[in-house]
Amino acid sequence: MISQKLQDAINEQINKELFSEYYYLSMASYLSSVGLSGFENFFLVQVEEERFHAMKMYNFVNERGGRVLFKAIDAPKTAFKSSLEVFDLAYQHEQFVSQSINELMDLAIAENDHAARSFLNWFVDEQVEEEASMETILNKLKLINGEGHGLLMLDGELAARTFTPPAK
Ligand code: FEO
Repeated sequence: MISQKLQDAINEQINKELFSEYYYLSMASYLSSVGLSGFENFFLVQVEEERFHAMKMYNFVNERGGRVLFKAIDAPKTAFKSSLEVFDLAYQHEQFVSQSINELMDLAIAENDHAARSFLNWFVDEQVEEEASMETILNKLKLINGEGHGLLMLDGELAARTFTPPAK
């Protein structure tokens, strides 16, 4: 059985994962509107990743005899200046999520909940990848510095990303 405190905290995290899904969908929509369909595809795959994160937590709370309760999801930002700004914001957002996962882990340790600690380890590792994938593309965009040919090359690269559900 999961403690009330941990259940509440994971419910908050589920909300953040669903917000991430919504936020990245908003970024995908902007990128589509400026003709960068490969960048759009990158974020549409990220949307699926975020849903996977939320559902992984949903299943954990249910398996531990808890209850998932949903709150309103904040409206995401809809106006962006460039693909560079989008990746800068996405990288910042992943750092925010990492901090939030770390705080969840702190709570699982304080509650001496070994199952939750084991479960959250997956997310700690996942956040290393999440930050790295945003930062790598952000750095490439900084190198390209808005140059059209480089931008289209990167767009072609990102068009190839597909969603593979991570191993459980
Ligand atoms: Fe669910 Fe991108 O962290």
